Amino acid sequence: MPAETILIAEDETVARLSLIELLENQGFRVIAAENGHEALSCLLQKNPDVALLDVRMPGLDGISVLRRAREAGSGTALIVMTAHGDSNIAIDAMRLGAYDYISKPIDFEQLLPLLRRALKRRILARRSDASPEPLILPAEVAPMMIGHSPAMQHVYKLIGQVAASDATVLVRGESGTGKELVVNAIHHNSLRAKGPLVKVNCAAIPETLLESELFGHEKGAFTNAMYRRIGRFEEARNGTLFLDEIGELAPALQSKLLRAVQERTIERLGSNTSIAVDLRLITATSRNLEEAVGEGKFREDLYYRLNVITIQLPPLRERRQDIPALVQHFLQRGGRRVSITPGALALLCDYHWPGNVRELENAIERAAVLARSGVIDESDIQLHPVVHREAAHWTEQISLEDGWKANLAAAEKSMVERALRKAEGNKSRAAELLGIHRRLLYEKLREYGLENEQG
Ligand SMILES: Nc1ncnc2c1ncn2[C@@H]1O[C@H](COP(=O)(O)OP(=O)(O)OP(=O)(O)O)[C@@H](O)[C@H]1O
Ligand SMILES: [Mg+2]
Repeated sequence: MPAETILIAEDETVARLSLIELLENQGFRVIAAENGHEALSCLLQKNPDVALLDVRMPGLDGISVLRRAREAGSGTALIVMTAHGDSNIAIDAMRLGAYDYISKPIDFEQLLPLLRRALKRRILARRSDASPEPLILPAEVAPMMIGHSPAMQHVYKLIGQVAASDATVLVRGESGTGKELVVNAIHHNSLRAKGPLVKVNCAAIPETLLESELFGHEKGAFTNAMYRRIGRFEEARNGTLFLDEIGELAPALQSKLLRAVQERTIERLGSNTSIAVDLRLITATSRNLEEAVGEGKFREDLYYRLNVITIQLPPLRERRQDIPALVQHFLQRGGRRVSITPGALALLCDYHWPGNVRELENAIERAAVLARSGVIDESDIQLHPVVHREAAHWTEQISLEDGWKANLAAAEKSMVERALRKAEGNKSRAAELLGIHRRLLYEKLREYGLENEQG
């Protein structure tokens, strides 16, 4: 059997030569191209098994090579390599049907297994004579997500892959990890990008109103229904419907949602007419849904329907290497010219960020205001020390010697603080989260000296 052929498209001589040497030593037949146009003609004429495409190349960039090769029906497994761990490039590459995406500097230990997998799939595809998957039309550029950590690269790849399909997606992650950004990126990279992206926060709307919010109602469907109302499902036709905080959905609505998802039709309240709704559904949660299923609070059948593909966002503390880039991104926003001292940056990198990227964003906004002469130093950075302790299991830290009463108060104070933070300082929402009346929340805030807390 002839050796498998690999095309290397890389404009930088040293990188190209070292890749050639490495792969030839592994027994592959290697062909090389120094720019995008050469790469494309090699791809189409020599039909290699796998191609490694650099992104920044003179003439035609790697993403354009990828697109044109796919348009021409090339069956080569295409692997994109780039030094710029940019979310848009990764998303684009996967959306356009790249086999995978690898960041530079290339780690050979990672490259070789990847090549073997690509070759294996290529051989299987040849045997079954499978035609390449349909091509996706170019879409709007996704909103930029920052972070080159492996966990985020994985997220970008998944976004690109699901964008090209119509699959139902469940986005998971702690509060402030970027779930909504992921939803935006999926929608704007999908075939439905020209359609609407409709967002509903299931936790923010009272249960009694949510049903008609989602499904709409006819005039006279209930006492206050003076007009017909088109629900969010109908509004999202031909586009994407995003249901945030799905874990908070009341049982009766869970059943209705299940029907809508299964049958792809809905009925307005007060009507028996089924209306077909052609849309992609994305849901998100920061709650542990499996636990909710286990406790009987979330329907298992609905859980499986929603959880076709999961995109899990890592907490910021598990990808601290992304913090400097995020800080730069937030600092430069709006053309602002503010810089940060290494000491202050180190503080930010050490903190454990229970509120994740949103908390970092807020911390930078605050520091940028406080910073004198356009430089943020350590004294401008205010992190929540209380929050810090609490996240490390406050229950275990409370000493029982203080007595039960003091402990209960400490626990209560902590819950109030968490709710406030989760609600971003919005006291009505915090009260709602705690399931207490707004007036009682104000009492508690006074009691614990939290009146001026902004969450
Ligand atoms: N990777 C990222 N790059 C740049 N900005 C980010 C990133 N992740 C999150 N952000 C920013 O952090 C903030 C919070 O993100 P987002 O609203 O998407 O989080 P979330 O997971 O939906 O939070 P919640 O569960 O509280 O709704 C936003 O302002 C968003 O722009
Ligand atoms: Mg959100």
